[in-house]
Amino acid sequence: MTNVKQLVSDGIKKITPYVPGKPLEELEREYGIAGAIKMASNENPLGPSPKAVKAIENHLSTIHRYPDANSNALKEMLSKKLGVSQESIIPANGSNEIIEFSLKAFLRPGYEVIIPEPTFSLYTKFTQAMDGIPVKVPLKKFSVDLKSVREKIGPKTRIIFINNPNNPTGTIIKKNEFEDFLHSIPESIVIILDEAYGEFVTDPDFPRGDCYLNGPRWIITMRTFSKVYGLAGLRIGYGLASRELTHYLNKIRQPFNVNSLAQAAACAALDDDQHLKKTLRIVAEGLNYLYQNLDQLKLEYIPTQANYLMVKVGDNCDKVYELMLREGVIVRPLSSFGFSEYIRVSVGNQQENERFIASLKKVLQYSN
Ligand SMILES: Cc1ncc(COP(=O)(O)O)c(C=O)c1O
Repeated sequence: MTNVKQLVSDGIKKITPYVPGKPLEELEREYGIAGAIKMASNENPLGPSPKAVKAIENHLSTIHRYPDANSNALKEMLSKKLGVSQESIIPANGSNEIIEFSLKAFLRPGYEVIIPEPTFSLYTKFTQAMDGIPVKVPLKKFSVDLKSVREKIGPKTRIIFINNPNNPTGTIIKKNEFEDFLHSIPESIVIILDEAYGEFVTDPDFPRGDCYLNGPRWIITMRTFSKVYGLAGLRIGYGLASRELTHYLNKIRQPFNVNSLAQAAACAALDDDQHLKKTLRIVAEGLNYLYQNLDQLKLEYIPTQANYLMVKVGDNCDKVYELMLREGVIVRPLSSFGFSEYIRVSVGNQQENERFIASLKKVLQYSN
């Protein structure tokens, strides 16, 4: 048979596989420990909304039916909550799917996609899968550098990714800066604005994607139920864009891309204001606790607008990561993001945050 390598596109050959946070079960099996905690994937420290769990239970007996192909109930709720028309909302199997829809619709092979780096790695992988050309723009002082992004725009630029707040740095682009940038770029560019952590932002100068549905440039905003809404395991998110854009995005979307349990749970989670508020409070309190304790340990960190935090542990972050694993605490080493001195920790509940600090203290004494 033909060597399979010859059957694959050059772009796909270039992709380095995504490395997810280590699953708890795997760690416990490997190290023979129990009661490990995961602070590596920026999930909700409270767990899912009890209303969402109930909604899933209520829908279990109808899973022999295909789901609502248009997620109508969810779109109706989102439309009311956000004050946008239902036509501007596109449901997705995790917000990651919006990246795929957008690139399939608006990127042609050989065209360029500008990606501030480091950021969420899937932007590059999907670009390569489509035989697009990723054009990387380094962050400046841990923040997206829009001036340099603008300078990289050329005749082949089709898409610009902006992750706000940026993962893994937790920094944001402010409203004025963002609006100036929008006005300064060619009208032919589509911006994919990833707001996976937007709900955690406390800075009032944060530019929310739903305010730019009608311009001044083409923008597709990604939102997710995986983070503040605590439904990462169900895979549900959505995109927000003008009707002109969703018209094309919907052509690509499979009719049953969002399963019925996810739709029911997302509606219930949207309706659970108490859970949302409690999550935001726990994350804010957790961050304060982490800041205070890191200050006491004289460890540097990057102040964050999200539910994760970059902590400087010296130039041995992989070693710190390994030693933390032995303590039963999973964090994210950032060497693969080019930050070899840093780990990223997701804000946990109080118990988890205390355990993280205690383990870090212990481990740094070992490793320095
Ligand atoms: C910046 C960013 N965007 C998107 C996602 C993926 O979200 P979803 O679970 O909705 O696919 C993540 C998940 O970690 C993320 O960090």
